[in-house]
Amino acid sequence: MPTFRAPRGTRDLLPAERAGFRRLETIASDLARRYGYREIETPLFEQTAVFERGVGEVTDVVEKELFRLAPRTEEAESWALRPEPTAGIVRAYVQHGMQTLPQPVKLTLTGPMFRYDRPQAGRYRQFWQFDVEAIGDPGPAIDAEIIELAQRFYREVGLDTVEIRLNSVGDPACRPAYVEALAEHYRASAQLLPALERDRLERNPLRLLDSKDPAMAALNATAPRITDRLCGPCAEHFAAVRAHLDALGIGYVLDPNLVRGLDYYTRTAFEFYPTGAEGQQSALGGGGRYDGLVELLGGKPTPGIGFGLGLDRVLLALEAAGKAVAPPVPIAVVVGADPDATAERLRIATALRAERLPVQAEVGRRKLGRQLESAVKAGARFAVIVGDELESGHVVLRDLDAASQKPVALADLAALLRRKAGPE
Ligand code: HAM
Repeated sequence: MPTFRAPRGTRDLLPAERAGFRRLETIASDLARRYGYREIETPLFEQTAVFERGVGEVTDVVEKELFRLAPRTEEAESWALRPEPTAGIVRAYVQHGMQTLPQPVKLTLTGPMFRYDRPQAGRYRQFWQFDVEAIGDPGPAIDAEIIELAQRFYREVGLDTVEIRLNSVGDPACRPAYVEALAEHYRASAQLLPALERDRLERNPLRLLDSKDPAMAALNATAPRITDRLCGPCAEHFAAVRAHLDALGIGYVLDPNLVRGLDYYTRTAFEFYPTGAEGQQSALGGGGRYDGLVELLGGKPTPGIGFGLGLDRVLLALEAAGKAVAPPVPIAVVVGADPDATAERLRIATALRAERLPVQAEVGRRKLGRQLESAVKAGARFAVIVGDELESGHVVLRDLDAASQKPVALADLAALLRRKAGPE
């Protein structure tokens, strides 16, 4: 056993996995740019109140999972690692007066989030999200656009069978009466409720509906449905979101029990699952509308909508589907007949790198045979062999797959390798 290990619930992204992550990040940032989202970075920690107010005090994320930082005696402020990016982004929107910019302000962030959850497969204490937020547009068209963007992300990374689950969670006009009806439903069976759910019954009955406790499944199945109790404007909005999704040819499953685990949601709520998956554990992503959040964090009333897609889970799903990506390999390794001629090898590799080619140099003083073996292990397609031909300005280019070789003028080497490497 090593003396030190990565903290429980976290993991090192070793090169193979990091390469898969990098690919997801690249696809995410290309897509976000194509849809008009601009990148933002917020701190990895915020005042605890940003999350308590934004996400909601009576939520798993704040009550059980918030990584609170130990207070420093010299500071009265209390800090927590971000469990999700939306509250911080909205805090930044308010702080930097983005309400004066043309609306909506479309922002994107990809980075690590922290939740002190019980670690298990696909559930980590540090995990990555691809997040987009469109702040300042009441929808419904942008709701459909955002859902379509998420679906396109899954498609482009190679997950073709992601199911979209959709619901409306109402707004402050219709939700209170619904929440009261929900509370009555649970009160009638209070003796069946697990301790935490009983405690939450009077504080935030909506959270019982998305409880992960298996004891709640039967009670939740018979609970009243918000979609039967939406007010006129919410019902209209929901119908219009669906009409826009239909117009885009996007299929979805209506899920009346989908209320999301965070308190800020209003109206549109959605989640993404591998097709056929059960339960909440495996959500690949989720999001929704949060028309009250800007005001809650001190701004003027402003609507907003966004999503967060769990990149760790996307990577796991890709691996399970046999679609893991290989880390990048060099196109060539520069090796030499004279083990001691390291300066020559380095000089040639340096010139090729200056031409933007991924090339390694053998800088050890091993025999040529060993150098070639290690070039094969590195995954290179070619070995550039430096030998006596150098006097006439030539090297030998060996195709490591075909085991064939030919002399090549140094002056032509970069162009030749670039042709072989294919489009960048
Ligand atoms: P969320 O549903 O709490 O939403 O998280 C979004 C996604 O992050 C989940 O669907 C899941 O894929 C991933 N995720 C959550 N917790 C973990 C974990 N412990 N380990 C691995 N992956 C995890 C939000 O965070 C909202 N901020 C989304 C949003 C943006 N709503 C509006 N704008």
